[in-house]
Amino acid sequence: MTSKLSKNNFQTSVDDPYGFDTPIDRTYLSTKKWEAEIARTNNPDLLCFGTAEMDFAAAPAINQAMQRVVENKHFGYPSKRDSYFDAVIEYFERHFDWRIDKDWISSNVGVYPAMQSLIEELTEPGDEILYQTPVHHVFEELITASGRVAVPNQLLKRNGHYEMNFEDLARCVTPRSKLFLLCSPHNPVGRVWRREELEQLNRFCLAHGLIVVTDEVYCGLLYKGVPFTPFASLSDEASLNSVTLVSASKSFNTTGLKHALMIAESEHLQAAYSRGLKRSNLGYGGSIFGEAATEAAFRDCDHWSEALMHYIEGNFKRLKSKLAQDLPLVTATQPEATYFAWLDFSALGLTDAALQRFFETEAQVNLVTGASLGPGGEGHVRFNLATTRACLSEGLNRISTAWRQRQTHDA
Ligand SMILES: Cc1ncc(COP(=O)(O)O)c(C=O)c1O
Repeated sequence: MTSKLSKNNFQTSVDDPYGFDTPIDRTYLSTKKWEAEIARTNNPDLLCFGTAEMDFAAAPAINQAMQRVVENKHFGYPSKRDSYFDAVIEYFERHFDWRIDKDWISSNVGVYPAMQSLIEELTEPGDEILYQTPVHHVFEELITASGRVAVPNQLLKRNGHYEMNFEDLARCVTPRSKLFLLCSPHNPVGRVWRREELEQLNRFCLAHGLIVVTDEVYCGLLYKGVPFTPFASLSDEASLNSVTLVSASKSFNTTGLKHALMIAESEHLQAAYSRGLKRSNLGYGGSIFGEAATEAAFRDCDHWSEALMHYIEGNFKRLKSKLAQDLPLVTATQPEATYFAWLDFSALGLTDAALQRFFETEAQVNLVTGASLGPGGEGHVRFNLATTRACLSEGLNRISTAWRQRQTHDA
């Protein structure tokens, strides 16, 4: 019998040591990012730059860890080994000088199920939860699905640069405000909040009795030289008033392996989280593959991450120069982290629905339209740069050709 496993032959070189330039064989893949969008639009030619995952193979160390699990031929409920805790603890100390204790660490099958548990355990129906927009749509969805009130605090955009909006934040807070959901680094705008900004936010939240749940899932995708500060590392008070949610999923392309970490120093917050785990029956082990991948990612993949971000930065430069040449009215925010480009199309004067139609039907590319990401997202789109340079170039060519055709047609 012949094997149906796909064969990926990655071409590597000194400039591209992990073969990011080689397209992955998608014959046997079925993903939300590509195959589901192609099926939804019934367009096999669609190019997909939407969902937040990469078109690259996972790092070799992660693939080896997965093979080891398969070779064991046993898939029972996993229990975390010391080597797992060591890998996590050393990663955060090595990269961000944040010292965490083994007892602070718990896990989940995802960042959002963990966030949902915390919302339900730390607030009552009708309580208000603050978060900064535009932000990944699930923030708002989780809040409203649990019967809490979503209070968006729109980021300020000054000369193309995003900042926290403390004046508006002061207006948003009421006696019913209980939780602040932080996205750090920020999806979609790509900001890495500086220590001073986080300190100001920390003072604000302490003063108003807001617990901070900080989603740091993009912290492994930093542009060269940009300093990332874990919120909980700011001070003892910040550590005791916050819960950090993080995962290898975005930074190491393991989204389908379903494993995320919850890190909290406060025993009160740990206990709330554990109650939530019990309530959702997630306490009895997670994914055996997810745990093994997380350990390998945090311990053995620094070089891969560095090469990845070099490639992503190259893709962002390519996008900038193509826009400057063909669509000078469209502006791109300079990212400091993530694999997204956040593009402002508002000068083209299209409604959000027309923008969506333009990309999907005329340019045949799938992007995330900013209007779905809350106040401040209108007129923008999020473009996922974690793809081969050839695919990126083809996507950009399609957008400029479609725009030219539209102008010729309108003239
Ligand atoms: C800001 C943010 N947090 C969390 C997630 C989900 O992470 P995970 O798949 O590890 O649960 C996403 C997915 O897009 C995200 O953008």
